[in-house]
Amino acid sequence: MQDTDSQINRTTVPRHIAIIMDGNGRWALRQNKARTYGHKAGVNALKQTIESCASYGVDVLTVFAFSSENWLRPKQEVDVLMGLFMLTLKNQAKKLLKNNIRLKIIGDRSRFSLTLQEKIEEVEKLTSNNSAMTLVIAANYGGQWDINQAIKRLAKHAKEARQSVDEFEINDFLSTAGLPEPDLFIRTGGEQRISNFLLWQIAYSELYFTDVLWPDFDQNELLTAIMSYSSRQRRFGHTGEQINEQAIK
Ligand code: IPE
Ligand code: IPE
Ligand code: MG
Repeated sequence: MQDTDSQINRTTVPRHIAIIMDGNGRWALRQNKARTYGHKAGVNALKQTIESCASYGVDVLTVFAFSSENWLRPKQEVDVLMGLFMLTLKNQAKKLLKNNIRLKIIGDRSRFSLTLQEKIEEVEKLTSNNSAMTLVIAANYGGQWDINQAIKRLAKHAKEARQSVDEFEINDFLSTAGLPEPDLFIRTGGEQRISNFLLWQIAYSELYFTDVLWPDFDQNELLTAIMSYSSRQRRFGHTGEQINEQAIK
């Protein structure tokens, strides 16, 4: 695709993009390689996507890296994924700092090794004052886990404050508290399901599914997704006419 910049100028860029990065395993198997080879290639696709989103002025990019159900995979694959997570955090910390990108990890990190937990905290702290874009990595994340932990924390908070639970909003206790809701939700790899990624937060997200396998997802594919998003009318319950009137004002 040529002249990317002029295409993006004519396009509404989503403020928050959420991506299920699926298809690494199939990408590798198609080349008679081990599934883990696909995960390594997936990291490169992620790096490219981060750069593209930052250059388009996206505020928040949230990616699903490891679901709470992915522990069910063969131990060897899980070990490689954990190793890649650690390695990528180590290798990319300086680059995130240089590019003014804030890193936030969401999910139940208590199941990770202590060294990985420490690394996560270190890179989050290092990048906490960055403001160009927030990169949210969902790791050992599940949408149901998130809602569950939010309700438990809300109830505890209300009890400690001696107030009724009615005084508080679930939104403020989700792991994504303070972030805008995803405008564009992308899933690569051909499946049309949510697989326990963000559940509450995608109430009004525009959904985009592509057969492209995650390691093949490049700037052109991202642009195609953003173009699809920008051609849609988001109504949030209003009529199309009401939205058109608002646009004229
Ligand atoms: C997504 O790719 C990455 C993770 C779930 C960690 P997959 O590994 O699910 O790839 P497929 O779906 O088997 O091709
Ligand atoms: C979702 O993909 C999780 C990630 C991409 C990290 P899966 O490959 O685990 O989803 P299912 O099992 O096909 O639904
Ligand atoms: Mg998959």
